[in-house]
Amino acid sequence: MPIELRPVTDSNFVEWCKAVRHGFGIHVHPDDITRLRKDRIELERLIAAVDTKSERIGGTGGADSYSLTVPGGATVPFTGVAYMTTSVTHRRQGVFSSMMAQIHDTAIERGDEISGLWATQSDLYGRFDYGLAINSYDWEIDPSYGAFTHSPISDDDESDAHVYFVDADEAAGILPGIYEQMRTQTIGTVERNSGRWRYELFDEERVRGGLSARFFAICEEGGEQTGYVSYRMDRKVVSPDMVTLDVIEQISLTDTAHAAMWRFLLNFELVGKITAHNRPLDDPLWWMLSDPRRLNRSMHDALWIRLLDIPKALEARTYNADGRLKIGLVSEVQPEIAGTYVLDIDDSQALVKKTTDKPDIVMTPADLSAIYLGGVTPGPLVEAGRIDAITSGSLAKLHGMFSTDSAPWCPHYF
Ligand SMILES: CC(C)(COP(=O)(O)OP(=O)(O)OC[C@H]1O[C@@H](n2cnc3c(N)ncnc32)[C@H](O)[C@@H]1OP(=O)(O)O)[C@@H](O)C(=O)NCCC(=O)NCCS
Repeated sequence: MPIELRPVTDSNFVEWCKAVRHGFGIHVHPDDITRLRKDRIELERLIAAVDTKSERIGGTGGADSYSLTVPGGATVPFTGVAYMTTSVTHRRQGVFSSMMAQIHDTAIERGDEISGLWATQSDLYGRFDYGLAINSYDWEIDPSYGAFTHSPISDDDESDAHVYFVDADEAAGILPGIYEQMRTQTIGTVERNSGRWRYELFDEERVRGGLSARFFAICEEGGEQTGYVSYRMDRKVVSPDMVTLDVIEQISLTDTAHAAMWRFLLNFELVGKITAHNRPLDDPLWWMLSDPRRLNRSMHDALWIRLLDIPKALEARTYNADGRLKIGLVSEVQPEIAGTYVLDIDDSQALVKKTTDKPDIVMTPADLSAIYLGGVTPGPLVEAGRIDAITSGSLAKLHGMFSTDSAPWCPHYF
């Protein structure tokens, strides 16, 4: 079937939206089409793969524009790949691959240095040189096991961290400021613009999945708002009279705000279970609980990234150790970027150039992308046969240079 990649305009936007949702097995509500257009999508970044025989859309794709916080705190222009579907009628004919190629070409033309995505299936994106850079946990805990043995807020502490409820209107004015401060200090996070905040906070019954409307609570300390939580109650009974509290998002700017917010959540009565999704790998709660095994943590892949401009991306982040390392990249997908890159790191900053010298260590761009944010250590990738450490000490050097003080985290889905 002949397929042509075409722009999405106001005239085919409704068909495009329906095709995206059908690709994920859901119907789209007419109001959501309006919301998507107004608050979420950038029309010029969308693709419709049109079957030229039937003139119907057989595939959809696109991207959102973000900037990504990298180790050291710089933010780099970032393409957030999204909306990728091929209709069941057009599968396995290369539609998805051709849309991905166009998205990458456009991203590079725009000057974006990194692209990234959340994958529905973990075997889809390695073929496009994406590496799994962030893993995160889904949590489940019975709050009756919520006692702390350790906390940054001790009984005689001066901290005045306190938590209070706000309604949805007030929350809409407070949450974006706290999120924005968090994103500048959190590796792997992207920003949310005002439209996207409206989109995220939309809370009519049809988007609640049978749960309550959202509740919001804020942590304040020293007159500053330093954390928030947004959650729903699931009235489906866990045990007699017990409900589930489902944390949608919990953000803290300080250790004391984190402790105060989780003390608040774990103090609820008539709640038999608390669930929280996409928590950072190094969240301190596990280390605060008296019976940490009660915090069930199930790990899943979160953000996959691809370095689009290798030297610029490598120079954008800071490093944990100075020195010189020659990284060889092999890629069938991007032969134009294959070769050896020498990293000269001085005072935590890298100068990156291509060289004809022999490499110290060899990997694919996907594996370089995986270790780039510091959330994946290279040792297991060597053991897995993915990275080839050629010169002695090269793995230790790579590890020392790329490691970070905290795990990357991306609380924003796209
Ligand atoms: C995933 C999806 C977009 C693939 O579309 P497609 O047009 O059939 O893919 P292509 O024909 O371009 O295939 C590209 C490659 O990926 C492989 N591939 C495609 N779908 C795959 C899948 N579900 N599992 C494993 N491999 C898959 C193909 O075999 C092909 O491999 P090759 O290059 O080695 O031959 C499509 O199956 C789909 O819409 N799935 C449901 C929605 C979804 O999961 N979207 C992804 C959002 S992150």
